[in-house]
Amino acid sequence: MNTINYIKMQLYSLGENVGIARIAAAAFAAQADLPISVIDEIKVAVSEAVSNAVIHGYGSNCPDGRIEFEMLLRDDRLEFIITDFGKGIEDVSLARQASYSTDPERMGLGFVFMESFMDELEVESKTGHGTTVRMYKRIHSPKTH
Ligand SMILES: Nc1ncnc2c1ncn2[C@@H]1O[C@H](COP(=O)(O)OP(=O)(O)OP(=O)(O)O)[C@@H](O)[C@H]1O
Ligand SMILES: [Mg+2]
Repeated sequence: MNTINYIKMQLYSLGENVGIARIAAAAFAAQADLPISVIDEIKVAVSEAVSNAVIHGYGSNCPDGRIEFEMLLRDDRLEFIITDFGKGIEDVSLARQASYSTDPERMGLGFVFMESFMDELEVESKTGHGTTVRMYKRIHSPKTH
C-alpha cells in the first residue's frame, strides 16, 4: 500500500486541541475525493478519539499529557491514528460497547460514533501505558491536481 501523504502532530492534552485536530482532519481528508457528509463524519470520529485521550487518558486538561495525531493518505484509504500515554483502558471490548462509560455524566457513545462513521476501528491499550486508536476510511482515489 503506497503512502501518498503523512502528517504527525503532537498535541498537549487540552480541550482546545480537540477542535484543532478536527479541522486538521477535515483539511487532510479533503485530499481524497469524498462528499462533505463523509468529511463531517471523519471530523466527528477524530474529535471523539482526541477528546477521549484528553478526558479519559489524562483526566482532562493536562499540559504534561502528550497526544500524537497521525494522518496518512494511502492509495485506497485514509488513516487517522490517535495515541496517548495516559492511564489506558482496562477492558477494551467493554469500553467499546454502546452506552458504556466510566463517567456517569457521559453517554458512552464515542467509540460507537468512531465505529459507525469509519470503515474500521482498532483500539490497543495497556493500563498505565496509554491507548492507540486507529481509524480507516476507504477512498476511491486521491484527488489529482
Ligand atoms: N484514551 C482513553 N484512555 C483511557 N480510557 C479511555 C480512553 N478512551 C476511552 N476510554 C474509556 O472507554 C470508555 C468509553 O469511551 P466512549 O468514548 O465510548 O464513551 P465516553 O467517553 O465515556 O462518553 P462520550 O464519548 O459519549 O462522551 C470511557 O468512559 C473510558 O472509560
Ligand atoms: Mg468519549
